[in-house]
Amino acid sequence: MPAEMLEVRNLSAGYGPTHIIENLSFSLEAGRKLAILGRNGMGKTTLLATLAGQTRRYGGTIRLGEKEITERSSAARANAGLGYVPQTRDVFPSLSVEENLLVGLKDRPKEAVSEAYDMFPRLKERRRNLGNQLSGGEQQMLSTARSILGQPSVLLLDEPLEGLAPVICEELMAAFSRLAEGRLMTIVLVEQRIQSALDFADQVIILERGRIAWQGTAPDLARDQHTIDRLLGIGHL
Ligand SMILES: Nc1ncnc2c1ncn2[C@@H]1O[C@H](COP(=O)(O)OP(=O)(O)OP(=O)(O)O)[C@@H](O)[C@H]1O
Ligand SMILES: [Mg+2]
Repeated sequence: MPAEMLEVRNLSAGYGPTHIIENLSFSLEAGRKLAILGRNGMGKTTLLATLAGQTRRYGGTIRLGEKEITERSSAARANAGLGYVPQTRDVFPSLSVEENLLVGLKDRPKEAVSEAYDMFPRLKERRRNLGNQLSGGEQQMLSTARSILGQPSVLLLDEPLEGLAPVICEELMAAFSRLAEGRLMTIVLVEQRIQSALDFADQVIILERGRIAWQGTAPDLARDQHTIDRLLGIGHL
């Protein structure tokens, strides 16, 4: 499946009666890279989980290319081409690394698992280990690799660099960029490392208390230290 457009209109969502995301709208063209930034607790994870159909939605619409997926279940969204790597690593603890990867392949031939091993040689070394025998960084690699193997048209990544060594981070961000630039995937990245996010993204949204506080291009934000300090700096309430 090639990259597809993601279009979000007036989205409000939360958990039970608590509204977290309020009236968010944005669109991302096929093959583009969007970074979602914001301090802790501002709603980044809730936004991605809502796109993946895992929160309570109060209003708004979500489109993936020509498909309106707003009312679909999480599984149906995945089948429609939405990939989601949650912040809580999504590894099956009692399956081996290789079995975890096979789950991600969907209908693709088994040999395609080697793509994950090319991306993360460490996973190849550990391929017979169980999910619950992996380090935090290895689980992160496995969760990310499993999503990519499914060739989603839109990939949602929630802090994929957390727990990974700097050299792996650079390689992984380069791999994500290649996927987007080859128009294989449209990518939404939630990231705390502002510089990595700005190096990667075309567009940026900064969330504050579940609303869009700033929206623009990555180069514009890189030049705007005032906005970075105000919305992402430490010690500001
Ligand atoms: N399952 C839940 N039930 C109720 N409230 C929740 C739940 N998960 C998160 N929240 C609340 O929603 C708000 C937004 O949380 P969210 O996890 O989306 O933030 P975040 O921007 O991803 O933060 P972080 O950078 O720490 O990952 C917070 O106030 C949080 O306490
Ligand atoms: Mg989060």
